Amino acid sequence: MKTENSKHLFDRAMAVLVEGCSSASRGPLNYHPYPAYIREGKGARLWDVDGNEYIDWQLSFGCLPLGHAHPKIVEIVQEKVAGGTHFATTLEVEVETAELMVGMLPHVDKVRFANTGTEACMTGVRMARGITGKRKVLKFEGHYHGWYDGLLVSSNPQPVTTLGHPNDPVRIPDSSGLTPGSWEDTLVCVWNDANALERMLKIHSHEIACVVMEGAMSNMGVIPPKPGYLQQVQEMCRAHNVLFYLDETVTGFRVAPGGAAELYGLQPDIVTYGKALGQGFPVAAIAGPDHIMESIEYGKVLHYGSHNAPRLGLYAAKTMLEEMSRDNNAGWAKINAIGEEVTQLLNQVAKDTGQNMRVQNVGSMFHPVFTDLEEITGYRDFCGHVDLAKYGRFSQLMRDQGVFFTGNRILHNLSCTAHTQADIDRTIDAAGNALEQL
Ligand SMILES: Cc1ncc(COP(=O)(O)O)c(C=O)c1O
Repeated sequence: MKTENSKHLFDRAMAVLVEGCSSASRGPLNYHPYPAYIREGKGARLWDVDGNEYIDWQLSFGCLPLGHAHPKIVEIVQEKVAGGTHFATTLEVEVETAELMVGMLPHVDKVRFANTGTEACMTGVRMARGITGKRKVLKFEGHYHGWYDGLLVSSNPQPVTTLGHPNDPVRIPDSSGLTPGSWEDTLVCVWNDANALERMLKIHSHEIACVVMEGAMSNMGVIPPKPGYLQQVQEMCRAHNVLFYLDETVTGFRVAPGGAAELYGLQPDIVTYGKALGQGFPVAAIAGPDHIMESIEYGKVLHYGSHNAPRLGLYAAKTMLEEMSRDNNAGWAKINAIGEEVTQLLNQVAKDTGQNMRVQNVGSMFHPVFTDLEEITGYRDFCGHVDLAKYGRFSQLMRDQGVFFTGNRILHNLSCTAHTQADIDRTIDAAGNALEQL
């Protein structure tokens, strides 16, 4: 594979961009010695500046349920851009998109638009504190909710020897520059373990504003919740008078039309969306029932933003929702079926080649990990039993064959409506070759 143009761009980039990119996971940390600079995408395909073609399974970290440059998205954005990009006023498309969302989300009465998942999560936590008057937030080991100070604790994989006792996980700050309040007010619990949460709530519920979690763990590969666990969490939150905040930045409009809440039968108090919602544009949302959402009315709990409800992004979001829901939600049925098939075939090819690769999925989200465990059920399994370097080599071997698996060792891969059976077959062939070479 020729990569001279990417190499040349990387040399230029290193002179003017930190790490040659704008977010660490896109740069040489995950793509060694330099990343492919992508020039164009269409459907499930990417092309880099050297003309190499890839089948894309990274899909912009989950932002593209319809794939790249879907004709309907291109058409609406081309039509609307000529009428202006942003007015910082209220918009017809804002109302229409919110109406569509509320119609699909039985646990939601109102929506407030933001731009990124991080902003939405920041607002969700502030709302929980404002509503309850309590200061602490309980999050889970290995769950990531963006890069807001108050949630930047214990989100990254660490050596198991540093994690502490599961009854009292060591709170590990994920960054320099955090104030002590960031982790003093952020309690950390082991996920997928109802007893662990019950214990924490018994001790701390009087000071906990909300329990925040991803419905399926998606920033340590893909770890599904144990059957019944999320319902137990919701019941415990209700019993202890703590708000249940489901961060659907990844799972929303991805695992089902109503996200993880629909898939697992939940009625969270606070929900946040991002990624898939904007179909490649930065659109996020905070949502919930009226009695929760009224907290941000007139800035009682403050949520502002010059770029909130971006006009073109909302046209993309609305079009995505319409396209995915067509024919009784055929879009979601399709991406989930592809995710299931790829998962099953990758697991088969791992078996056939005698490699210790296991692929876990929730619908369209899937991820291969190299482990001797039968199943990864939590963060501590992931930290102690997953060979991240081997995934790094595997994903590079895939990209060398024109199959773009994310180079980020702790994230996941995804399907979109544009993937074809031929794409799946080529991907499985490439995986067979890569596993033989490992
Ligand atoms: C579960 C979850 N919440 C929040 C975020 C932050 O979203 P953003 O990157 O749009 O700020 C992410 C990003 O990966 C995420 O996975």
